[in-house]
Amino acid sequence: MATPAAVAHGGAGPGPDRKANVEAGVQRAAEILQAGGSAVEAAVEACVIFEDDPVFNAGTGGVLRNDGSVSLDASLQTSDGRLGFVIGIRDTPNPIRVAADLLDEEINGLAGDGGRVWADARGHPKAAVVGRPPKEESGDTVGVIARDSTGSIACATSTGGTSFRPAGRVGDVPLPGSGFWVEGNLAVAATGVGEAITRSLLSYRVYERIRSTGGSLDAAMRWGIDELIDDGVSVGLISMGAEGEGRGHSNTDMPWATWRG
Ligand code: GLY
Repeated sequence: MATPAAVAHGGAGPGPDRKANVEAGVQRAAEILQAGGSAVEAAVEACVIFEDDPVFNAGTGGVLRNDGSVSLDASLQTSDGRLGFVIGIRDTPNPIRVAADLLDEEINGLAGDGGRVWADARGHPKAAVVGRPPKEESGDTVGVIARDSTGSIACATSTGGTSFRPAGRVGDVPLPGSGFWVEGNLAVAATGVGEAITRSLLSYRVYERIRSTGGSLDAAMRWGIDELIDDGVSVGLISMGAEGEGRGHSNTDMPWATWRG
């Protein structure tokens, strides 16, 4: 039996104190895992707590695009090789639930209006997301990695996108290897300026660094940010290792919390 565990972050970048809010999500994941729930359930439900909390740039608190719209990205990947993501979905307060609903489908991802049409067909709640104005100083993205007692891992990420971006812009969160990567008994998730994360395929490369060196999570995340990200670009990472240990590292403020049963 594997040790159940969870690690989560509340976005890279200065902003209001979000530590207690992140801990609330990790606590939810812990309750689910302790009750015998799956890694997918724990990661999704913790992510929903973050999407429903307007302090975070995800779901309800997603930042406005340059045209005043709110469009949301979310992704879910599992260690048994399943993947779901939505890109630029509107009127959907909990895009992570739509991503989760894609896990067992023939398709992996949906973008824009097509995502919402599919969500309607599946009965996902549709409601205007008011969002909040963009700010230089605000956290971006939420992420949760959970591991259940079978050793299965799930990684959920969700965002309104980096501030001051046009409608239609795609960041790292829905892109495998960029905003997240789960494989075997390891997982990595990123937060921060999505363009830099995507150009460097940051999550996959940090995963590969952990796997190939067998070194510490902290060392691999530090390597990823120091070597692959330009100075002055805000980026953060969380990761989970083979023993269920969860860690976070950032070159800016990034609230993160972890739990291990
Ligand atoms: N990291 C979130 C985004 O750039 O969209």
